[in-house]
Amino acid sequence: MNRKTFLKGSTSLFLLTATGFSLKSCSNNVDSNVSDDNIVDSTSPGITVEDNRIVIALDSTSGELLAEKNGWLLIRDKRVLVLNTDGENINAFSSVCPHAFCAVNWTSRNGNFTCTCHGSVFNSKGEVQSGPANQDLSSFQTSVSSTQIEIIT
Ligand code: FES
Repeated sequence: MNRKTFLKGSTSLFLLTATGFSLKSCSNNVDSNVSDDNIVDSTSPGITVEDNRIVIALDSTSGELLAEKNGWLLIRDKRVLVLNTDGENINAFSSVCPHAFCAVNWTSRNGNFTCTCHGSVFNSKGEVQSGPANQDLSSFQTSVSSTQIEIIT
């Protein structure tokens, strides 16, 4: 193997290693707290919409996801994020990120929401924790009864 061949091979190995590392890094960012169940639409079972009200039945799959602390939903077509903050209380926010207005690219972990468009993080009150966003999420009024969660948008 001459020097030129060695350098070419070394460069390829470096690129593969760098790419492999990058892919591994991306796969490590997959949030195990996110399932397809977390992302719903207003036509999903257990969710009803009337005018500016969204109602989530607690005995539905979506309601069950919100029964535990840090349980969350993205109601995609309504642009609404919903979070159980402490096991009892529910907060709801606009899913339109104040940075560049991505609306449907969200994950949640430990009560924080991350906009996966550019990585802004918001806490359980919708307050921006890290940018590039520099404004909080808009919040919606919520109420919880023994059978349902109501969100006024
Ligand atoms: S649009 Fe959300 S971080 Fe950029």
